[in-house]
Amino acid sequence: MQLALETPGLLSLAAGFTDNATLPVGSVAEALRALAVVAPDSEYLQYGTNAGRPGLRAALAARLAAQDQGAADVDAVAALCDATFITNGSQQALYLAIQTLCEPGDIVLVDRPSYFVFLELLGGLGVEARSMPVAADGRLDLPALAGLLAGMAAGGERSRLKAVYFVSYFSNPSGRTLDAAEKRGLAATLRAAGCVVPIIEDAAYRELGYDSATARAVPGILGDAAWEGFPLLYTGTLTKPFASGLKVGFGVCPDPAWRAAMLHVKGHHDFGSGNFAQAILEQAVQSGAFEAQLAVLRRAYLEKRDALHAALTAAGLPKLGWRWRMPEGGLYLWLEAPAGLATGFDSAFCRACLDEGVLYVPGELCFGDDAPMNTVRLSFGVLSPAALAEAGARFVRAARKVAG
Ligand SMILES: Cc1ncc(COP(=O)(O)O)c(C=O)c1O
Repeated sequence: MQLALETPGLLSLAAGFTDNATLPVGSVAEALRALAVVAPDSEYLQYGTNAGRPGLRAALAARLAAQDQGAADVDAVAALCDATFITNGSQQALYLAIQTLCEPGDIVLVDRPSYFVFLELLGGLGVEARSMPVAADGRLDLPALAGLLAGMAAGGERSRLKAVYFVSYFSNPSGRTLDAAEKRGLAATLRAAGCVVPIIEDAAYRELGYDSATARAVPGILGDAAWEGFPLLYTGTLTKPFASGLKVGFGVCPDPAWRAAMLHVKGHHDFGSGNFAQAILEQAVQSGAFEAQLAVLRRAYLEKRDALHAALTAAGLPKLGWRWRMPEGGLYLWLEAPAGLATGFDSAFCRACLDEGVLYVPGELCFGDDAPMNTVRLSFGVLSPAALAEAGARFVRAARKVAG
């Protein structure tokens, strides 16, 4: 990000920021007007409660129940609402989860590739990330996972395994969605190995399926009986699907002891939560502005995905041996370079990209262990379709240079 700011003309496909052009300025102004003018009551400028605004929690619980179960059953929504707490972005919920579960030296199983800021968080707390094996198609390799768990038990590491983490919808960085059978298979494999440990499902991009039905087809862990008996935490956010600057996310944790531990630590982090941003979002969700914004974003990100894909393809990247799958949601293309082509910060390819004026995230940052050297994450969140076309062309020129 610093390089992008310091280098004039550099086009960044690196930062996972949202699209400035579609930020919901009008909806936020409308929400503020409703708070400040239509129903003037200054409470939204007072400290918020530790768990967050009851109205926002209830609205998020109803939304989640509808996504997971198709209809919002009153009792189910009430239980979800009790389990929901609002955080300073879902990042805070992830931090609270690990802070309350792990000691230095503990192990967390992660998806492969995984969200690199979460991996950094683990490293910062002295916790070891261990990748769950995947097959060539990117799906979890459950027999290999069973083998890994057996090996951990045999090696005396089982007691250090404290949690399992995965990004399940339109993942950062891979763009993949874990399908329902895959998630159920994961639950069964963990259970069979005697590893009924806390599960963290990071659903940061669930709302950003270009066709909203794709995400609805796969229930979250809270809506699936396969996870019965596991302590569960589902994290979601209102940053990527609405306004990142409001920095509001949430956790839903039906396990009373784990939730109480997280809220206890959260009180130490926050001492009164950010009520103003929550009040704006409560208005936006209740008025329908949030849903309307999603429709805008889904169209905009689909157009941007296509613009970047078209630029890379037209300039001949597949002919140079690069491969990627088209994500059905989210903000990222995950590219695999030909074997042997290093893409790390100190690689010839990275220098060639900087010379061409384009920036990316080296994929090696996105692995808990055993990182391949030839992957790249490209974000199409920030740049316009026209700028993405130019950035894609530059990226391919760099690939051509190192291809010799
Ligand atoms: C997979 C994933 N999880 C969580 C987050 C945290 O987002 P926020 O704290 O803005 O909710 C991000 C942000 O990029 C992300 O990509």
